[in-house]
Amino acid sequence: MIRKYDFDEVIDRRGSGCIKYDAIKKKDVIPMWIADMDFATPDFVLDAMRKRMDNPVFGYAKIPDNYYSTIAGWVEGLHGWKVDEEWMCYIPGIVKGIGFALCAMLQKGDKVIIQPPVYPPFRNVPLGNGMKLLENPLLPQYDGNGALKGYEMDLDGLQKCVDKGAKILVMSNPHNPAGICWSRETLEKVAEITSKAGVIVISDEIHAEMALKGHKHIPYASVSKAAAKNSITFMAPSKTFNIAGIVSSYAIVPNPVLRKKFFGFIEANEIDFPSIFSIEATMAAYRKGASWRRQMLAYVEGNIDFLEKYLKENIPQVRIVRPQASFLVWVDLRALALPQDKLMALLENKARLVLSDGTIFGKEGTGFVRLNVGCPRCILEQALGRLAAIAGKSPLK
Ligand SMILES: Cc1ncc(COP(=O)(O)O)c(C=O)c1O
Repeated sequence: MIRKYDFDEVIDRRGSGCIKYDAIKKKDVIPMWIADMDFATPDFVLDAMRKRMDNPVFGYAKIPDNYYSTIAGWVEGLHGWKVDEEWMCYIPGIVKGIGFALCAMLQKGDKVIIQPPVYPPFRNVPLGNGMKLLENPLLPQYDGNGALKGYEMDLDGLQKCVDKGAKILVMSNPHNPAGICWSRETLEKVAEITSKAGVIVISDEIHAEMALKGHKHIPYASVSKAAAKNSITFMAPSKTFNIAGIVSSYAIVPNPVLRKKFFGFIEANEIDFPSIFSIEATMAAYRKGASWRRQMLAYVEGNIDFLEKYLKENIPQVRIVRPQASFLVWVDLRALALPQDKLMALLENKARLVLSDGTIFGKEGTGFVRLNVGCPRCILEQALGRLAAIAGKSPLK
């Protein structure tokens, strides 16, 4: 019999030391910003950690012999990508992993390509490490009614950035904030363009396990030999199983030359040591989490359906790009024609919703916000009610 998990349960996270709630000074707001979910981490993950706590000694951890084979089995089962255990290495977070990779392989002043609107650390990490950015903005795609339906990569623009001497492309696959599962065709073209010039692709695949109905995540390194040869892939159970605070992620690097450079840096600095709880949580999630993951995704999909229907019926001037993966929704508020600061103030002070300001993803995010729907439906409903309520008193009407 398949066990049913409950995603409707409202858990009070305030005072738990979580950034999503406890970093917000205002009390009466609904936080729907940073990318973790309000669902309980599954009990089989908690049980594994509790069991380990029965032994009261918390000295250094040893990675179990079946750690990487468990991860490899999960990756192959989910994405059909066969990875060798030798290609993998623990990383204490993907943003850190990107930083380590840049530091291990580039010099100050080297050029890094990003494709905004995109997850803010893609900009901040290269700049913070003294590298230069080449920006290749995504191309917005509109439907027949003039509504934004998604983005394509600008492959000509990518070629131009490569011609300008870029060393690395940092790519979000699936894409945050627009939730795009990049197509095989696009990824093959990226591999063609970058590999000819020896540009390495860092493929951040943290949302890979969360492809929604009708969509499939394609690991970048799996699309061609060239892609495998010139890439570093980052994956994690952290978004899927809501364990970002436990810090568990891993790099996959098929090319031994790249591995020597990157893993050499990681090993020299002893970055490849997971904490005891990171090991326990990852193993439990990947061994026992298939059904929980499916049910969680169905619930998130239900939230997106609810959101889309609610907006259409009640606030049609607010539009969304329907995500193909994960629980983050790119919301287009450009119809309101408000300056970004006024828009954010209206949402926070009048609607009492804390959302991610679209401009943190790049200037291409002007007029947008990112909404996190990884929450019980009743909270989403409450938030949408607040949004609709200000519609009468504000330019939202
Ligand atoms: C694309 C992307 N990469 C990385 C991260 C953060 O990963 P980590 O906490 O492992 O650094 C996030 C979190 O929202 C993300 O969306």
